[in-house]
Amino acid sequence: MENNSAWSGPKSLLKSETLYQYILDTTVYPREPDCLKELRNITANVPRYYMAVPPDEALFLSMLLKLMNAKNTMEIGVFTGYSLLNTALAIPEDGKILAIDINREMYKIGLPVIEKAGMARKIDFREGPAVTILDQLLNEEKYKGLFDFVFVDADKLNYLNYHKRVIELVRVGGLIAYDNSLYSGLVVAPPDEPVYRGNTSNRDAIVELNKVLAADPRIEVCQLSIADGLSLCRRLY
Ligand SMILES: C[S@@+](CC[C@H](N)C(=O)[O-])C[C@H]1O[C@@H](n2cnc3c(N)ncnc32)[C@H](O)[C@@H]1O
Repeated sequence: MENNSAWSGPKSLLKSETLYQYILDTTVYPREPDCLKELRNITANVPRYYMAVPPDEALFLSMLLKLMNAKNTMEIGVFTGYSLLNTALAIPEDGKILAIDINREMYKIGLPVIEKAGMARKIDFREGPAVTILDQLLNEEKYKGLFDFVFVDADKLNYLNYHKRVIELVRVGGLIAYDNSLYSGLVVAPPDEPVYRGNTSNRDAIVELNKVLAADPRIEVCQLSIADGLSLCRRLY
């Protein structure tokens, strides 16, 4: 049994630790590529290691990307690059990821593993605040409706700002995935309950996001209780 203390618990909404460990041991770890395992172990020693997606979510996203034949993808929120490398491995040889993060330093930690895996050539890393970079993309006609898949996993306060922009960048029929959409289950906590490892404004932003997504006629939406909650939005028009 692999030690998964860095990945389970609060990161998973599943209430049984034993059951979560069973899923990891039975299906996830045996299928996790060695390079992702290496990056996961490196990330476990980095402050705020828990920000990376857990490997069961990565496995799900990997299958989803392959089922969609996703080729042009975007990642908002890179950290050390665990979900980025997962996407890079799932898309075809000529696939591309436009990866955005305000902080290149953390990306540099994972980059040697990404390079060793031969995946760096698929990645166009842009450093800066994602709203600014998305606005730059929207100024260029070629990016509108280009992306098959966008993974949003950055600052929660900006998720609605991202939605307003990303909806124009993803193609009709393409998918936007919002991570942490159940925010450790705190979306249903009483307003005065202390917010574990986060803050109330983040939680409130996620609650607002879920409301807006549910009412947005431009998308079909479903919410998964995998990891910290994942909302999938398919652009309809
Ligand atoms: C949850 S982590 C991303 C985890 C990553 N997807 C993974 O699985 O390893 C969030 C990232 O968002 C970045 N971030 C925070 N605010 C941002 C902003 N305004 N624009 C771009 N990136 C931002 C942080 O630097 C951090 O690396």
